[in-house]
Amino acid sequence: MPESPPDDEPALHVDGLDVTYGRALSALRSVSLTVPQGGVVTLLGANGAGKTTLLRAVSGTLRLHRGTITGGRVRYGDTELDGQDPVAAVRAGVVQVPEGRRVFAGLSVDENLRAGGLGLGRRSPAQVREARDRVFALFPRLAERTGQAAGLLSGGEQQMLAIGRALMAAPRLLLLDEPSLGLAPLMVNRIADVIREINEQGTAVLLVEQNAGMALSLATHAYVLEVGEVRLSGPADELASTDAVRRLYLGESEDGQGAA
Ligand SMILES: Nc1ncnc2c1ncn2[C@@H]1O[C@H](COP(=O)(O)OP(=O)(O)O)[C@@H](O)[C@H]1O
Ligand SMILES: [Mg+2]
Repeated sequence: MPESPPDDEPALHVDGLDVTYGRALSALRSVSLTVPQGGVVTLLGANGAGKTTLLRAVSGTLRLHRGTITGGRVRYGDTELDGQDPVAAVRAGVVQVPEGRRVFAGLSVDENLRAGGLGLGRRSPAQVREARDRVFALFPRLAERTGQAAGLLSGGEQQMLAIGRALMAAPRLLLLDEPSLGLAPLMVNRIADVIREINEQGTAVLLVEQNAGMALSLATHAYVLEVGEVRLSGPADELASTDAVRRLYLGESEDGQGAA
């Protein structure tokens, strides 16, 4: 009997997820979220709301931080991701860019990029070259600096390198953790353009942000986490026009005026 055809562009389904750190600290309670095929979904929330924890649960990195999934499920297409390790997530096509644009400071740009494909095994030199060409087309500045130590790049360039390294694994779903944090407005715009372009090339994006304006302009769907629970969710344009989101995340005061 023929196998059922593989799900070409699977969706991410997080269902009733509970996560605890250590023995007691409950970081997520009954969180459900979907990233449709090829979509851009944003997850907003204040510091400590649980945004990074959710990405860790999807990318299989929770255990590295002593976190445990105590309830619910994470599925990407036909693949169960809860309880899996990071390599399994990468093999399924799910790659996380961690917060704080962590690059290997002492390694060159090129070495950082090569680290991005590790763990995948069985990739031909042509596939690696293709992935690298894609990264350099998105980030021409990196192409000009392949030999430079990553630690000497500007903050914006390091964020580009961190995204580029993730793209080396040819993800179908990219998890981005606050890519705009600490960057100048021009660079934030540049990162937004890059996210749009990555998505247009067919990669779905789950974007964690505190910069709600930027995130809501990119996403079709948005979720707002508050102390470990989904407080609001819906189409991004609808959420952007709700009073709570405008006040809390778009810098407007009670009377609808923009904050100074
Ligand atoms: N490795 C960890 N060990 C213990 N508690 C953690 C750990 N990482 C995060 N937390 C806690 O989990 C909660 C959610 O954190 P986090 O997911 O980092 O939020 P966000 O990314 O929205 O700022 C916070 O209370 C935070 O202190
Ligand atoms: Mg975080």
